[in-house]
Amino acid sequence: MAVPLFDTDTPLAPFREQIIERVSAVIRGGHFILGPEVKAFEAELAAYVGAKHAIGVANGTDALTIAVRAAGVEPGDEVIVPSMTFYATAEAVAAMGAIPVFADVDYDTRNLTAATVKAAQTPKTKAVVTVDLFGMPALSAQIKHETGLPVIEDAAQAIGASLGGKRAGMLGDAGTFSFYPSKNLGAFGDGGAIVTDDDHIAEIARALRFHGSKDKQSFEYVGYNSRLDEIQAAVLRVLLPQIDAWCDGRRAGAQAYVDAGLGDHFKLPGSLDGAVPAWHLYVPAADDADAKLAKLNAAGVQARAYYRTPLHRQPAMAQFAPAHELPVTDELARTILALPISPVFTRAQADEVVAALAA
Ligand SMILES: Cc1ncc(COP(=O)(O)O)c(C=O)c1O
Repeated sequence: MAVPLFDTDTPLAPFREQIIERVSAVIRGGHFILGPEVKAFEAELAAYVGAKHAIGVANGTDALTIAVRAAGVEPGDEVIVPSMTFYATAEAVAAMGAIPVFADVDYDTRNLTAATVKAAQTPKTKAVVTVDLFGMPALSAQIKHETGLPVIEDAAQAIGASLGGKRAGMLGDAGTFSFYPSKNLGAFGDGGAIVTDDDHIAEIARALRFHGSKDKQSFEYVGYNSRLDEIQAAVLRVLLPQIDAWCDGRRAGAQAYVDAGLGDHFKLPGSLDGAVPAWHLYVPAADDADAKLAKLNAAGVQARAYYRTPLHRQPAMAQFAPAHELPVTDELARTILALPISPVFTRAQADEVVAALAA
């Protein structure tokens, strides 16, 4: 049987009728932008992560750009980012005129640490964007404490994770989420959000998503048209209450890989004290990752090379390429492989993946 990289369909099936009803209600109501669904979703998301504020925006990339600006970063400022992440993390910084400065990551967690951030810090550094890569929380609070820099947590892949009892998204000064359909909490289109306890960041972010205006009369900033829409908010309100059970399913899937003996074929992702990962992707490493990828794909297992080219080696980021090497990032980029995982991933599927590797 084919094993899909993501299974977004099966977990959604029990909620499809309810979603259709809620979307129909939005259509009947005729209020499509910044209405009651977005307001209610923002309150429910804030309650879920334990934030004072949640601000719905158009996607996870805008969430980052807006959060970075709201945290006080201005064009020309340096912002430290990992190179081992999805392209949008650095793109969001560059798009607002700031300079992404690439730092190396820790092998086990695949995330920035205080030490790697400090190695990249200069007097021009204004902030750090940590990424909770593949659903493993980064040590954002420690990075903030040891560098004194504001931290924006890119939790696009990590809703449902926690560290030391705090939810992903709330580990720095502001956190951002993506509701891209294949994410742990996926909309039926694009969507994103910013969460924060900081009143000032929230106020600016709320204005930036609406053309830099608080009242539609006076325009204080050159902002964005970046709103979560009512239809997506209605979908997300049905699915948000499922996130803990879905992430439990993802964690059971990761355990199924361990029990099935995946460790005989790959170096498995490391753990972190106090962390409960959300396993958006399960990404082990092996020297012959590409040979394993070919073998898995031939057996119908949809593995994929995430992220084979790190950001500091991407053409558009050439102007920001660091003078020094990022050895752990390069090592991971060469060897990691994303394997199938989902809220409904089974031990039988894990056995199938391991059997394909052993064949
Ligand atoms: C780590 C990370 N940051 C940012 C984003 C951007 O989110 P979006 O696609 O909603 O703009 C994504 C996902 O696409 C991501 O995985």
